[in-house]
Amino acid sequence: MSTNPLEQLKTYRNLTSQRVSQISPSGIRRFFDLITSMDGVISLGVGEPDFVTPWHIREAAIYSLEKGYTMYTPNLGMPELRHELSRYLNDNYNLDYDPGGELLITVGVSEALDLAIRAILNPGDEVIMPDPCYVSYSPCVLLAGGAPIMVPTNQENNFEISATDIEGRVTDRTKAILIGYPANPTGAVMTRDKLAQIAEVARRNQILVISDEIYARLVYGVEHTCFATMPEMKETTILLGGFSKTYAMTGWRIGYAAATGEIIAAMTKIHQYTMLCASITGQVAAIEALKSGDSSISEMVEEYNKRRMVMVKGLNDIGLSCFEPKGAFYAFPSIKSTGMTSEKFAERLLIEEKVAVVPGSAFGQGGEGYVRCCYATSLADIEEALARMKRFVTKHQVA
Ligand SMILES: Cc1ncc(COP(=O)(O)O)c(C=O)c1O
Repeated sequence: MSTNPLEQLKTYRNLTSQRVSQISPSGIRRFFDLITSMDGVISLGVGEPDFVTPWHIREAAIYSLEKGYTMYTPNLGMPELRHELSRYLNDNYNLDYDPGGELLITVGVSEALDLAIRAILNPGDEVIMPDPCYVSYSPCVLLAGGAPIMVPTNQENNFEISATDIEGRVTDRTKAILIGYPANPTGAVMTRDKLAQIAEVARRNQILVISDEIYARLVYGVEHTCFATMPEMKETTILLGGFSKTYAMTGWRIGYAAATGEIIAAMTKIHQYTMLCASITGQVAAIEALKSGDSSISEMVEEYNKRRMVMVKGLNDIGLSCFEPKGAFYAFPSIKSTGMTSEKFAERLLIEEKVAVVPGSAFGQGGEGYVRCCYATSLADIEEALARMKRFVTKHQVA
C-alpha cells in the first residue's frame, strides 16, 4: 500500500465531490492552455474586449484608492451603485427596481448566475436552456444539483431558441428557462416577438426565467429587448447584467442581478456567506461607468461593428458559412465543409496556422460543426487571421 498520505486517504474516500466529478473543465480554458507555449498566435479565442477600460472609469477607481476606499461594502453592494443601477434600468428599459432590495451587486455575471441558480433550485429541478450556450450554464445547474435540459438551436433558425421547443420539454420538475441573448457563442439576438412567445410559455407553465443580458449594449443595427419588460414578466424574471463586456471591464469583476425581493434575498444569503461583497474598487468604477460611460460604449460598438462585418464577410468568402451575428462580439461559422470535428479543426488551425478559435463543442453538442471566432481584436489581426484560415481551409476542403 502507498505511503503517500493523499493516496491513502483516497483508498478510504473520494477526494472530490460527485457533483464536481460529473462536470468537465471548461473547453475554452483547456484549449487555451495549448496557446501559452506558442509564439505568433493570433487569438480569436477568449471572449474579452481588446480595449482597456475607458480612462475616466479607471481614474475614478484610482481616486477612490487615494481617498482610502479599501473596505468591505454592504452585502448588496454600495448604495450609490444600486441607485445608479436602478436609474440605469429605468432609463433604458422603463423598469422599476428598488435599490433597497431588488438589486444585488455581484462578482461578475458569473457569480450572479451561480447565485440565481442555487437560490431557486431543489435537487432534481430542471432548467431549460439553448444548445449551444455559454459554457457556465449547464455546469452551474449541475453543481446546484439540478438537471440542464438542452434545446437544440441551429444556423437555419438563426440560433434562436423556439418557444414551442421549450414547451415540449416542460415537465413538473421544470423550474426555470435560462436564456442569454445577445448570445455567446453565436452572436444571435432574439426579436421582441419571439421573446414574447417564450414569456407566454413561462407564464402558462409557471416557470421562472433567468435572462443573462451581459451583451445587452453590444448590438448592431437591432434593438436589444430586456426580457423583464415582457408583459407580466418582471416579477418572475431574474435579470442578470454586468460591466465586463459593455465597458471593457472584465478584470474588475462586477455584475448584478435584478429580481423580485424574495429572490434577491435568497441570492444575498448565499452571497453574504460565500463572497461577502464585490470589490469596492470595482464598484466605484461601475458607478462611474453608469454615470458617464455611454459615449465610450458607442465608440467601442462602432469599432466592433466594423470588425464584425469584415469577419463575417471574410468567413463566408473562405467558404465557412456564417450567419450574421447581430450582437455580442462573436462569429460562429460552420466548419462542416472541412469534414473535421470542431475540436480537430481548432487544434489543427492552431498548430498549422497559429490562429486560435474555440471549438463549438465547448458550448454543448449543438455547437459541434462550428467554431467561435471572437472579433474583439484589431482589424489587422482579423485580416491576417482570415488569410491564414483561407490557406487552411483551401488545404483541407473536402470535395
Ligand atoms: C453569456 C455570458 N454570461 C456571463 C459571462 C461572465 O461574465 P462576467 O465577466 O461578468 O463574470 C460571460 C463571459 O464570457 C458570458 O459570455
